[in-house]
Amino acid sequence: MLREDLGEGIELALAVPQHAEAIFELINANREHLRRWLPFVDATQDAGYTRAFIENQLRDLISGRALTVVVYFRGRPVGVMSLNRIDPVNRTTAIGYWIDEKATGRGIVTRAVRRLVSLAFDNFPVDRVEIHCAPDNKASCAIPQRLGFTREAVLRQSLRAHEFTDDRVIWGLLREEWEG
Ligand SMILES: CC(C)(COP(=O)(O)OP(=O)(O)OC[C@H]1O[C@@H](n2cnc3c(N)ncnc32)[C@H](O)[C@@H]1OP(=O)(O)O)[C@@H](O)C(=O)NCCC(=O)NCCS
Repeated sequence: MLREDLGEGIELALAVPQHAEAIFELINANREHLRRWLPFVDATQDAGYTRAFIENQLRDLISGRALTVVVYFRGRPVGVMSLNRIDPVNRTTAIGYWIDEKATGRGIVTRAVRRLVSLAFDNFPVDRVEIHCAPDNKASCAIPQRLGFTREAVLRQSLRAHEFTDDRVIWGLLREEWEG
């Protein structure tokens, strides 16, 4: 999967260093939209930082611990999502995502996360996929809800983004639920 067409103008591409400039520009244009929920935003001050992130994710892909993709809409990169912390011992992974504010409200992330879930179950040694979000992040929590995840737990004060501390809602989906 280097680049895959999901239909309706949505594509996923494996994140490679050549994406660094475009992804940095997206983050730069979306600081206020992203920083409330994502801890890396203020630290991202140049494309070199984003390049280092992508290179690190590629190293983690080689060791089977992560997969990061760029989401395209109508030929333009609009966001990033990842399978993170792929754990072959406990057979789990967690999906993270963000998208350009201008591309929200169209179901792009729901469709892309649905594909990432099947990639996880089809290609990695996992039987459980998690999504973590703050309870007040309604748009984020709506994604696992829409995809049939179960709201399983709340870990108090365990998400930190900049000056904000939030509870962490853990949504879980099991392989048999997905395949059923
Ligand atoms: C969280 C985030 C990725 C969600 O983006 P989003 O655009 O709401 O998600 P989707 O692309 O799935 O779109 C869903 C919306 O499109 C609508 N929609 C339209 N067509 C749709 C379709 N075919 N399928 C699903 N939803 C569709 C839904 O009704 C929903 O609209 P609503 O918000 O008015 O209810 C985005 O808000 C974001 O990047 N936030 C900042 C970063 C962040 O919080 N990341 C997550 C950290 S845990």
